[in-house]
Amino acid sequence: MKILFVCLGNICRSPLAEAIFLHKAKAKGFSDKFLAASCGTANYHVGDPPDPRTILNAGKNGVRITHAGRQLSEYDLIDFDLILAMDSSNLNNILKLKNASRHLKKIKLIRDYDPQGKGNVPDPYYGVERDFQEVFEILDRSIENLIKNLKA
Ligand code: 4NP
Repeated sequence: MKILFVCLGNICRSPLAEAIFLHKAKAKGFSDKFLAASCGTANYHVGDPPDPRTILNAGKNGVRITHAGRQLSEYDLIDFDLILAMDSSNLNNILKLKNASRHLKKIKLIRDYDPQGKGNVPDPYYGVERDFQEVFEILDRSIENLIKNLKA
C-alpha cells in the first residue's frame, strides 16, 4: 500500500508525517507492507531538505528525517492508494488536480485519524519551537491511529 502525505511547502508537516510513519512502521516490523512519501501543493521548495526546525524537533522526539521537496502532480492521484492532506487548504488544492473527482475515496485529511478530534494540522512555518512540537504531537497520535486502522 502506498501512502502520500501532502502539505503546502513539503518542508515542515508532510515530510515529518512521512518520517513518523516510516519510524513507526519499522518499529512495528511491517515496513515491507507500506510505502510512504510526501509532497507539497506548492513548488517553492522543490529539491530542498526539510526545514532545520523540523529536523531538530523530529530528532528531539527520536525520529530521523531526510527528504527532498517535491511538488504534487495529477499522477500522484493514480499512483498512491491513500492521500492525506495536512489541512483543508491542501485538501482543496488536491481536489483541483485533473481527474481528482475519480479518486475522492482515497483523499482525506490526516486528522480524520486524530483520536483527539478532527481539524487542521497548523502550519508551523511562521511559528516557534512549541508550534513544531504541537505539530509533532498531532501527527504522532494521528499516525498511530492510522496504522491501527490500516492493520484492521
Ligand atoms: P509546510 O510549511 O507546508 O508544512 O511545509 C510551509 C513551508 C513553507 C512555506 C509555507 C508553509 N512557505 O511559504 O515557503
